[in-house]
Amino acid sequence: MARLNLLEETRFEKLPVTIFKNPKEASLSVAQRIATLIKEKQQQNLNAVLGLATGATPIAVYAELVRLHKEEGLSFKNVITFNLDEYYPMQPNAAQSYVTFMNENLFNHIDIDKNNVHIPDGTLNLEEIPAFCLAYERKIESVGGLDIQILGIGRTGHIGFNEPGSAPNSGTRLVTLDDLTRRDAARDFGGKSNVPTKAITMGIGTIFKAKEIILMAWNRKKASIIKKAVEGEISSEVPATYLQLSDNVEFILDQDAASGLTRFNTPWLVKDCVWTEELTRKAVIWLANKLNKPILKLTEDDFNNNGMAQLATEQGPVYNINIH
Ligand code: GLP
Repeated sequence: MARLNLLEETRFEKLPVTIFKNPKEASLSVAQRIATLIKEKQQQNLNAVLGLATGATPIAVYAELVRLHKEEGLSFKNVITFNLDEYYPMQPNAAQSYVTFMNENLFNHIDIDKNNVHIPDGTLNLEEIPAFCLAYERKIESVGGLDIQILGIGRTGHIGFNEPGSAPNSGTRLVTLDDLTRRDAARDFGGKSNVPTKAITMGIGTIFKAKEIILMAWNRKKASIIKKAVEGEISSEVPATYLQLSDNVEFILDQDAASGLTRFNTPWLVKDCVWTEELTRKAVIWLANKLNKPILKLTEDDFNNNGMAQLATEQGPVYNINIH
């Protein structure tokens, strides 16, 4: 019964979503999945191929992997990594480079063979980039493809640096960054004008080939883009919506990032509710906004046609609810 209820509750969600109480618990679970993969591969004498992301989101995952290495002996000797992206141009030793980020948050603290680490090269000449990108794709293929790709999400809906307008079959390539993305990065660079305008990123097609894709998001700031990515129509305007086409994707969210989903934001559309004062007020205001009507003009039919029949029946007539 509980399962059936959940199916109904999540009927607007077009891909699997798992919600944790907080980013810490979510990060531990993702780290655990990566560690399990690494150990399974070790037992079979195989490499584990990881697609890695930067940004604030995965930091606690990397911290837990470091802890598992230092305290529980998890070895990364059989691990090969490919990072999603790098700014262009970018010197690897610059403070803002994704090379520095990965070294500081992960690679410097584990026993990975540095020859097994791959990050797009921000130092190439423009004309060298296409061949580099092709070789990056080939290298991923030659080691058997990505076993797990972890992703964050930008507020434009980008994954890696695949900004709005990216094609679903795009490969690794040079891209131009969206203005919002550059604004979000401004703090790291001491002002937006210092943020590179370009980046080299794996494509959506590259990400898609991973055997498992885990997108993580925390924080209320991500709630609206997460709603679009999970419940919206597939469109190049929100590149993360392409993930709805994958059979191997899972979104791992904290409660704040999930708060825009229908089951939390407008729960009356998907289930019976306990009509507290607060929920009633929220629903009535939502209905008035939706229909563009003053609250006192909302009718019984308005309630019934917009998932609020339960409220009308339990606490009606609706005129009294409106007045209240
Ligand atoms: C950058 C990275 C993305 C990352 C995004 C979100 O643009 N290229 O891979 O997902 O930022 O960053 P954060 O995790 O800091 O919110």
